Amino acid sequence: FPHKPLSGRHVLVTAGPTHEPIDPVRFIANHSSGKQGYAIAAACAQLGAQVTLVSGPTSLPCPDGVTRVDVTTAVEMLAACEAALPADCAICAAAVGDWRVADTASQKRKKEGGAPPKLTLVENPDILATLSQPGALRPSLVIGFAAETETLEAHAIAKKRRKGCDWMLANDVGTGTNVFGGDQNRVLFLDGDTIEPWSAMAKTDIARSLAARIAARFSSSP
Ligand code: C5P
Repeated sequence: FPHKPLSGRHVLVTAGPTHEPIDPVRFIANHSSGKQGYAIAAACAQLGAQVTLVSGPTSLPCPDGVTRVDVTTAVEMLAACEAALPADCAICAAAVGDWRVADTASQKRKKEGGAPPKLTLVENPDILATLSQPGALRPSLVIGFAAETETLEAHAIAKKRRKGCDWMLANDVGTGTNVFGGDQNRVLFLDGDTIEPWSAMAKTDIARSLAARIAARFSSSP
């Protein structure tokens, strides 16, 4: 079925921010809207893939034909991704919090009582790097995003190598670009050996282009 080239494939997508709790009423988060990841999940489903969307807190509706697993923290996101394996392709579009609070308080922290509290942070697991590690359950195609505010190309090349993923889409999220929360995006696409600047387009069009690339990759090597 040429119009459903991803049928029979399982695609795992992460999207949205994570919320890392400080206490029962506060958390550390970021500006990710989840729009790009949700658009990718929708585009892959439209091409016939079985899609698992592991989503941090967003206000977006679940795209048609997509199975969503809701998570809050990075640790939960990794566990949900691992539980969703095996997958043919993993696309990590989530803006995962780099750190979580080591000693989350079980009760609301109080302002009274002198000095502001000091938060001790510990590093979160890197979901993209973990999914990219060699092993029986490694998806044959692992795709990451690199959100950078300067020297996009060099940072993206280094990040792709460091994470061990197969493809990377690098976007400039610097002040004034309005990528976070906006509907437009502009990316550099890196596969094994080439770097292609894609023109500025809607996040839904980036998603469709990426889904078409994925379909082409799987049709050339089943
Ligand atoms: O290191 P950085 O956060 O810039 O890398 C971005 C890429 O890594 C994105 O694809 C993001 O989804 C993924 N990532 C992840 N787990 C983390 C941090 C980033 O999957 N803890």
